This record gives sequence, C-alpha cells and structure tokens, in this order.
Amino acid sequence: MKKTANFTAKTKAIVKKHGGDRSALIAVLQDIQETFNYLPKEAMNTVSTMMGIPASRVYEVATFYNAFSLNPRGKHIVKICVGTACHVRGASAIQDKFEQKLLIKPGETNQDQQFTLELVNCVGACALGPVVVIDTEYHGQMTMNKVDKIINEINKEGAQQ
Ligand code: FES
Repeated sequence: MKKTANFTAKTKAIVKKHGGDRSALIAVLQDIQETFNYLPKEAMNTVSTMMGIPASRVYEVATFYNAFSLNPRGKHIVKICVGTACHVRGASAIQDKFEQKLLIKPGETNQDQQFTLELVNCVGACALGPVVVIDTEYHGQMTMNKVDKIINEINKEGAQQ
C-alpha cells in the first residue's frame, strides 16, 4: 500500500515536471523507468489520468520500446552474452554460475532487487569472450572466480551506501 502511494506521488511529480503535455509521454515514461527501474502499473495509470491519455495508449508505448520494462528490475542489470563466440568460450558455464550465485534465472530479478539477469546476443566484443555487461560496464574473459568477485564487490558497494 505504502509502495503504491510512493509510485503515485513520484509519478505525479514527474508528470508535473514535464508540464503534463501529451507529447512528453515518452520522456515521462523514461523518467519513471529511471526512478523505479521499471514502469509500475500504478505509475502508468497515474500518467494516463494526469495526461489525459487512454491507458491502452500508455501501455502500447510502454511495450513498444525495449528500453521500458513492465516488470520490476534490479538496480544492476547483468547481461550475459550468449552469442556464438562467447558460447564456444564457455558462456553457459558463466550463466550457470550467475544463476547459482544470484538464485535467479534469466529474465528474473533477485529478492532484494539488486540484480536482474538477462541473456543477450553478441555485444560486439567477441575477442574478449565470454563477455558479461553489468549496467554499462563490459567484463571480458569471464571466469567463475570473476563472477564471485564482481558480485561480491557490487554487494559490498551497495552495503556501504
Ligand atoms: S558473441 Fe559475445 S561479444 Fe560477440
């Protein structure tokens, strides 16, 4: 309940910041995504009401762009490259390791909402395979030890904040 109120209050502030103009819909959704890491249903309903745009249209735009997610996402997005070059260099073992470490499968977010796991195709750094991109940072020549190290470091940073 508290969370819903939080979604609504913050969404109202975002819509107001953009002046409530219909043409600002994408910019508003981008800000909401940035704030919550995904587009909560309550936020989209608030956008629809405040901007006078049918909810179906808001959902249409939200589902059209890959940058938007309708499901909760973690603070950190872990993208494991499973393209051919990374695959032959052991990407599936790296995937298994992340799954065991974070206790989630691709497409899922862990319980404390720190990590979302995703599989992607070639990220253009084949020579460094297997490659994992965490947020915007590329990690090449991944090994089991590196997986442990990276996750532990991120968790430690999070605990210090
Ligand atoms: S296949 Fe992974 S970076 Fe190209």
